[in-house]
Amino acid sequence: MAKLKVKTAFYCQSCGNVFQKWQGQCTHCQEWNTIVEEVVENKGTVPQWVKTDKEGLKAKPKPISEIDMDSERRWMLPDVELNRVLGGGLVPGALILLGGEPGIGKSTLMLQLALQIENLSCLYVSGEESEKQIKMRAERVEGMQDSCMIYTDINTQNILKHCQRLKPQILVIDSIQTLQTPVIDASPGSISQIRETAAELLRYAKETGTAIILIGHLTKDGMIAGPKILEHMVDVVLYFEGDNKHVYRILRARKNRFGPTSELGLYEMRETGLTVVNNPADLLLGKRNGLLSGTAISATIEGMRPMLIEIQALVSTAVYGTPQRTATGFDSKRLNMLLAVLEKRCGFKLGAKDVFLNITGGLKVGDPSIDLAVLVSILSSNEDQVVSSKVAFSGEIGLTGEIRPSSRVEQRISEAEKMGFDQIYISSFNKVDIKKYGIKVQMVSSVNELYEALF
Ligand code: TYD
Ligand code: MG
Repeated sequence: MAKLKVKTAFYCQSCGNVFQKWQGQCTHCQEWNTIVEEVVENKGTVPQWVKTDKEGLKAKPKPISEIDMDSERRWMLPDVELNRVLGGGLVPGALILLGGEPGIGKSTLMLQLALQIENLSCLYVSGEESEKQIKMRAERVEGMQDSCMIYTDINTQNILKHCQRLKPQILVIDSIQTLQTPVIDASPGSISQIRETAAELLRYAKETGTAIILIGHLTKDGMIAGPKILEHMVDVVLYFEGDNKHVYRILRARKNRFGPTSELGLYEMRETGLTVVNNPADLLLGKRNGLLSGTAISATIEGMRPMLIEIQALVSTAVYGTPQRTATGFDSKRLNMLLAVLEKRCGFKLGAKDVFLNITGGLKVGDPSIDLAVLVSILSSNEDQVVSSKVAFSGEIGLTGEIRPSSRVEQRISEAEKMGFDQIYISSFNKVDIKKYGIKVQMVSSVNELYEALF
């Protein structure tokens, strides 16, 4: 067969400007090393599985009332957390992108899904591992179904040919960066290759109603590797995050065409694979033996989920000239701001102290209402006075030292009550009927007032 002639052009990955030939700097946006050669036209034929009518059209415009909603039903997966993050199950024909750092457990999560599914057929395609390696991993996972289909290849045409024959309802691709389509002459992982293979899979998903889950690598800036357009093409973008050194993992949706992006799934990486965390308090509240200063518990909301998280702080006299400020799981700029508020508004001399802050479980918390607990843990360590482990905190700190209201405070109070806390401190600007709760709700308006109440 004669080789197809492909036409290429040079695109700036930053501003999208097109050039005739490669150059080091984009003359349009002045960025360096952003110009990449891409295929602009390929004479690839329409794959056989695309059903077309006589005129070559596969769909025609129709009134909205005639569109059948049947295809919008959802498949319930054995993984309850995944169902929740997807917005209540997997939608047939959806194209899902799952990104995460190397070693975080993306392959494990997807292989487990493939192994544990009972009522749906699933094909797990890997371009990264051999069949034996996959089998070895599968042996560790509990609840393995013998019917799970595994295939190792990187050629999309071969993969889709097998799909046509097997007709799996769910197709998992590990990973999009290893795929290659023969219609383009670029190496796997390159921008044009990723875009083209994703387009082929997208087309297959929409034509056949197969749900496809693509695993994606991250670049060093934490973005999914490949063209930005990849995230626009897919229906759902999920991120699997966590600290490699800890066992906890969080699954979040960044984009979801079928549901909210505020849901979140919690997992624990065990010897036997990933397990769902049903009771986050077990892992987020550190093992508390005896009474120690420097800890406080925050009633936060991550996504839609209320969670009680333990914050630990250590304040000690700085040994070297410049005091050190280190925060794990918390924004260190925000920590500096809180320390400055304490210094300026309340006269605490923390300028000559080292401050270390740690959020249990290696979680990254984005909820601003965690401020109050952070502040209390710092004060507790600084004063060397214990704050009872039966007290929770929720509130944002403003620059003037005022305590700002938290969102969905009722949910936080109820969660603290449910977890057996005796008291919760919230902002006095929150409008709540405190008599409604079995837990004692303390309202505070400023950092000074809080200090008076606690120490
Ligand atoms: P993996 O799924 O290969 O990560 P990714 O595909 O995101 O790169 O996960 C690899 C890590 O998970 C590895 O460091 C070992 C660990 N792991 C367990 O702790 N228990 C298990 O049962 C499995 C399968 C993996
Ligand atoms: Mg992997």
